[in-house]
Amino acid sequence: MVAYKDIQISNALINDANAPRVAVFVGGTSGIGKLTLRALVATGTSLRIYLIGRPSSEVRTRTFVQELQSINANAEVIWVEAEVSLLAEAKKACELIKSKECHIDLLFLTTGYAPFGIRQETSEGIEISQALSYYARVLFILHLLPLLKKAENPRVVNVLGGGLERTTSINVDDIDLKNPGSFGFTTAQPHYLTLNTVFLDKLATGHTDVTFIHSWPGWVNTGNVWRGLDANQSILSWAIWAFLDPLIRLLSFTDEEAGQRHLYICTSAAFGGCGVPWSGKAGTSTTGRVDEGLFLTNYKCESTTNTKVIPALRAKATPSVWKHTHEVLKPYM
Ligand SMILES: NC(=O)c1ccc[n+]([C@@H]2O[C@H](COP(=O)([O-])OP(=O)(O)OC[C@H]3O[C@@H](n4cnc5c(N)ncnc54)[C@H](OP(=O)(O)O)[C@@H]3O)[C@@H](O)[C@H]2O)c1
Repeated sequence: MVAYKDIQISNALINDANAPRVAVFVGGTSGIGKLTLRALVATGTSLRIYLIGRPSSEVRTRTFVQELQSINANAEVIWVEAEVSLLAEAKKACELIKSKECHIDLLFLTTGYAPFGIRQETSEGIEISQALSYYARVLFILHLLPLLKKAENPRVVNVLGGGLERTTSINVDDIDLKNPGSFGFTTAQPHYLTLNTVFLDKLATGHTDVTFIHSWPGWVNTGNVWRGLDANQSILSWAIWAFLDPLIRLLSFTDEEAGQRHLYICTSAAFGGCGVPWSGKAGTSTTGRVDEGLFLTNYKCESTTNTKVIPALRAKATPSVWKHTHEVLKPYM
């Protein structure tokens, strides 16, 4: 485990020379995204942040933006309204950013929730939590990749479940979990996090100038487990209330530590070699390198190469996931 005091020491070294100057937060309206954004702004560096959020979050986010600007007058926070579970809206948000910026240093992705509810689709025909935790994220990455590649030290941080992927957790025959029995609260989240790793692992090999990180945050008490539940799921709600929620409260990082740990993941040279200098153990990517690739980081801020699983996923899943994802996203590129 990277000690919290070492994380704090590293974050205290963030300055205008090593901090992201242009950052995009998709999911920064709540939870880990919001905590990380607050920690980043509190470093006092000069930066511009695009904060993407849905219309229903606008009012409370305006208050948050005011708070951020009172913490750091050199931070410019631009609210971009978009219901990103809809890929057409996610595309529009990307187009807006592309029309304003020449480069992006940091793309931070956290949208989504534990898919404990029944399967519900967006008007574009995609299961909602899959749209948020997989397709919209990949869409943002693909659209913004040319701008990321123009940055000096670009980084994509995708928060879901890096390192938790297993060969059995992906359903390559039914990538959108549409068949009867495919979607369920034990199958969907492992499937979605594995899709993220499989896609990013391949993307990273073709774009070695961008550092990709798939983070598993451990427990952070953001209310995420409640988001996907329906009013009529009383037994599951009761089980979460009785067992899971107390466990989360007990084991969670404090909000402050969760924000600082993800700020470290966003800025430390431990991942990819550039950024805030790091004399501790360097992270290793899924290709076994310390200077490039996809880093699977866990709640301890350590990386795993997950070598028993990743090569098998490359053989079993990468071709179909890559092809299918591009087919789904094609109308929105
Ligand atoms: N928290 C944990 O302990 C934990 C553990 C493991 C994995 N994860 C995963 O890590 C990611 C980040 O977690 P978190 O706890 O920070 O998440 P969160 O606070 O519950 O939500 C993150 C973002 O998703 C957006 N969102 C949720 N439902 C939406 C919907 N139906 N339509 C549009 N946007 C929606 C939220 O927007 P609003 O602000 O507008 O609601 C928020 O910006 C999630 O994918 C989560 O599943 C979390």
